[in-house]
Amino acid sequence: MSTFGTLFRVTTFGESHCASVGAIIDGCPPGLQLSAADIQVQMNRRRPGQSNLTTPRNEKDAVLLQSGLEHGVTLGTPIALLVRNEDQRPHDYSETDLYPRPSHADYTYLEKYGIKASSGGGRSSARETVGRVAAGAIAEHYLKIAYGIEIVAFVSSVGKVHLPMAAAVPATAEDDDDAAEPMSEEFRSLLAGVSRADVDAHLTRCPHPETAARMEKRIIRAKDALDSIGGTVTCVLRNLPSGLGEPVFDKFEAKLAHAMLSIPATKGFEIGSGFRGTEVPGSRHNDAFVRRADGSLGTQTNWSGGVQGGITNREDVYFRVAFKPPATISQAQATAQYDGTQGSLAARGRHDPCVVPRAVPIVEAMAALVVMDLLLIQNSRQAAAGRLPPITTLPATMVMPPRV
Ligand SMILES: Cc1cc2nc3c(=O)[nH]c(=O)nc-3n(C[C@H](O)[C@H](O)[C@H](O)COP(=O)(O)O)c2cc1C
Repeated sequence: MSTFGTLFRVTTFGESHCASVGAIIDGCPPGLQLSAADIQVQMNRRRPGQSNLTTPRNEKDAVLLQSGLEHGVTLGTPIALLVRNEDQRPHDYSETDLYPRPSHADYTYLEKYGIKASSGGGRSSARETVGRVAAGAIAEHYLKIAYGIEIVAFVSSVGKVHLPMAAAVPATAEDDDDAAEPMSEEFRSLLAGVSRADVDAHLTRCPHPETAARMEKRIIRAKDALDSIGGTVTCVLRNLPSGLGEPVFDKFEAKLAHAMLSIPATKGFEIGSGFRGTEVPGSRHNDAFVRRADGSLGTQTNWSGGVQGGITNREDVYFRVAFKPPATISQAQATAQYDGTQGSLAARGRHDPCVVPRAVPIVEAMAALVVMDLLLIQNSRQAAAGRLPPITTLPATMVMPPRV
């Protein structure tokens, strides 16, 4: 359906060529100072027409706040926000009246609903993500002010061009357990320090100048060949409190995976050491505990990606999302029409040759929605428990020992 979240509930609306797109957010805490400008920053990073690496569809994506605030302060009531669609060109899509675009959603929407939007991707279009990014910006604003939480995503690969730190470790003999770690020291220090300014310094949104330049060339090559190319986005969440995530079905990473795989064009998700972690033995993969300066427990390494048993442990959460090459390409493809007639489709319209530079703020937004919702749920549990008289008769093995 079109609603995400339990206590911070976001419903998005709109199709690629209708009057407007946007979201209704229910459950935003009252008393948050918020302006359209706080939201617009992320809208500008997502909007089409940003550079020669993205679709030339030119939308300003100016966000209009409709309800839920007075004097720049949230009331705790539903916040409605919308963005007008201004640069639609439905006639660009006339050939797709005959052809379902291969690997797009035209065929499956029609099979499912028996009817579909007459042009563009309708609800499956990335236009839908306008509402997510706006809602995510509000969540992120609260998380930053109330908890100091930082969310930074960046492009980690385009086609076969990878950030060197994220590239596969050198091939080693099958029985050599000591040679490799799932991720290099260099990559881990990037995760610890990378900022949005570092990311936005390059059109590709890869914070590594030499790799960013190669990625740019790769995208231009796909564009010039009337083709497209995929990539990955890595995201890090810093300063998260412990205790977020609801075992067993709503584990922190399960919610993150759900959120990420709901973004159009996603094909994969991994958290922490991910698939590469399977290549090292447990003795190298376990995150040993250490005492932090404040007396609490931290971990020496963080291959878990900040989540154990579906619950955050206060270490940074980091994860990676795979995006396929966008389906709509202008190169002629042999395919069948809706009625089964074999033919050739060379799509017109304006399209992204690679979605990852624009996907960065969408990944950040969906991460913010997950954190916000799970944080409100944990806060409500703790507030309810805090109303009860303390129990002093439990065996010591049932409670956290006092810090030394
Ligand atoms: C930021 C962004 C931009 C996108 N731009 C395009 C595009 O220009 N052309 C296209 O065919 N798909 C584009 N997509 C992907 C499609 O929306 C998506 O592939 C389609 O809805 C089918 O869904 P699926 O790939 O998740 O199966 C974009 C996705 C994102 C996240």
